[in-house]
Amino acid sequence: MAEQPGLIKSIIKKGVVGAIVGAILVGAAKALAFPPVFQVMFFAYALLGTVVFILLDAPPVKPISGLKALVVLLVFYIVLSGVYIGGASLWPQYDPEDEKGKIEKLLKAKRAATEQGKAEELLARAKALSEKADAIMQRLQAVGGSTVGEGPAGADSAKPSGAPVAAGDLVGLGRQQWDLQECYNCHKLEGKGGKKRGPEMDNIGNLMKPEELKEKILEPRSWMAEGFEKEYEKKKMPDKYKELMEEKEVDALVAFLSTLKNTSVNTPKPVKKK
Ligand code: HEC
Repeated sequence: MAEQPGLIKSIIKKGVVGAIVGAILVGAAKALAFPPVFQVMFFAYALLGTVVFILLDAPPVKPISGLKALVVLLVFYIVLSGVYIGGASLWPQYDPEDEKGKIEKLLKAKRAATEQGKAEELLARAKALSEKADAIMQRLQAVGGSTVGEGPAGADSAKPSGAPVAAGDLVGLGRQQWDLQECYNCHKLEGKGGKKRGPEMDNIGNLMKPEELKEKILEPRSWMAEGFEKEYEKKKMPDKYKELMEEKEVDALVAFLSTLKNTSVNTPKPVKKK
């Protein structure tokens, strides 16, 4: 038994090395922001490695054979399995219900946001509809006098009741169509709109006759603004107004456009296409 003191010394030495390696691993794991569970696990791995290293120095075991060997092997498996199962059940458990609760909490905020978005969209749609209703009321008043009953609050901008459809009314209705059909999205007018970069409209009344304007609105392929070849090719101007607008609405819009004669704005020249 001359190696006994050597063995104890080696155990102490390897134990110290194992503890240092474990501490380094925990420090590194902390620096890399690993959760505490992982830090503990890394330390446990270092300890496991130490044990294996120490076992390398252990004195050889007497060889066992026969039934005894079988029993020892079985006991070894049972102990190992016990350690694994016991250890695993001591580990923090993840309850699916718990996780579902956390996810639900995250989603709730998101869902609330989209609900609000929907409400805003509905409000915007309601506003557009009420504007359209106002426009129709005004038109009815312009055409049929004051027989419509009590008009909307803003109706006093229309001509005195009973008057025939005067040019002024038509132009006013046409301006409403400009807003309702959202022409301003692409066409700048009086310095406003035109975000989607179509031609400025301020001088279109000098460049296109009413019939030509009507043609362009109902059939955007019929005319092309000079310098807007690319946009024309891409069919940027929508081809939907002949479905969306009534004849009278188009006429009003054309009447309005015909009044736009501001020569200081460089509205491009229209070119007849087909
Ligand atoms: C999505 C963008 C877009 C919308 C919306 C739009 N346009 Fe256009 N429009 C264009 C573009 C781009 C051009 C230039 C290319 C072309 O002529 O097709 C153009 C050209 C025109 C022209 C010819 C201008 C010129 O100087 O030759 C007229 C007139 C016109 N639009 C009227 C309207 C009216 C009225 C509306 C609303 C009912 C409208 N546009 C809606 C994009 C649009």
